[in-house]
Amino acid sequence: METQSLTIRRPDDWHLHLRDGDMLAAVAPYSARQFARAIIMPNLVPPVTTVAAASAYRERIRAAAGPGFEPLMTCYLTDEASPGELERGHAEGVWVAAKLYPAGATTNSASGVTDIRNIAPALERMQRIGMPLLVHGEVTDPAIDIFDREAVFIDRVLTGVLRDFPALKVVFEHITTADAAQFVAGGPKRLAATITPQHLHLSRNAIFAGGLRPHAYCLPVLKRERHRLAVRAAAVSGSPKFFLGTDSAPHLRAAKESGCGCAGIFNAPHALESYLSVFEEEGALERFEAFVSSNGALFYGLPLNEGTIRLERAAVTVPEQLPAAGSTLVPFHAGETLGWRLA
Ligand code: DOR
Ligand code: ZN
Repeated sequence: METQSLTIRRPDDWHLHLRDGDMLAAVAPYSARQFARAIIMPNLVPPVTTVAAASAYRERIRAAAGPGFEPLMTCYLTDEASPGELERGHAEGVWVAAKLYPAGATTNSASGVTDIRNIAPALERMQRIGMPLLVHGEVTDPAIDIFDREAVFIDRVLTGVLRDFPALKVVFEHITTADAAQFVAGGPKRLAATITPQHLHLSRNAIFAGGLRPHAYCLPVLKRERHRLAVRAAAVSGSPKFFLGTDSAPHLRAAKESGCGCAGIFNAPHALESYLSVFEEEGALERFEAFVSSNGALFYGLPLNEGTIRLERAAVTVPEQLPAAGSTLVPFHAGETLGWRLA
């Protein structure tokens, strides 16, 4: 008989954009409803580069999300990243990890790193204190085709980082290609990857389906079908190196539907149901819990969550839009019906 409900350990989101102010207040509850903890991306304006800024941001998130949700903060690495500040924030329990944005690679990455050699002292310190490096894995060289930027990043940057810092823990964030899936699967234990729901559901055709579809635009951009299938295979493989990271990245409707639409998909409202439908389609329901609730925590060396949540079979239609900050957000799967509901 078909599985009617699934009870699993409370999950975590290992890659989340919550923004700040009114937007934070609008979006945080969607994540808090599903997840016990989330790795919070630091690409605010200005970016979160100091312990004081991270600690204050953490308080604002706690206030917006309510009790029962723990924000795990990250440091935004710049060319000037200070090893001392990284170590202090890590020791004080503020920073769980640090994020590498190659300068210009994505939203609010202008203050990112212009050359990986510039952060060698920071990486050296992170390696020593056991602080993971989270990477937006795309080169920014305009001569490289946008669909190839992730694969080229592996050769030009990531391979060298793993070689030069042989004890550094690295999370290859939001992988989108067969190249990345294979590289992570075949790499050392200290290398893992997060996977978003959109890269499991959509290929790049979705961006051009009957017209230009800004709500299917994110970075790294969606890839060919063969890459989607490889990323799906990695997610459901049972390997502890792959775990849930939504990369939910809200931008108001007007900022998406524009002559220069922002990159980012707001998938928080039905994230778990979205992942679950993929595991069901792949006949891998028994591997869902590890992917959403334990692989990430085990990689980070954090305790597993107490308590459980229940997902039940039910037809749920995702709203066309949701209110936020005096305007609206268009969620991932808007107007579609999903087969599961969080009880
Ligand atoms: O699509 C994306 N949106 N990719 C990123 O890397 C950043 C994010 C954002 O902050 O909007
Ligand atoms: Zn992101």
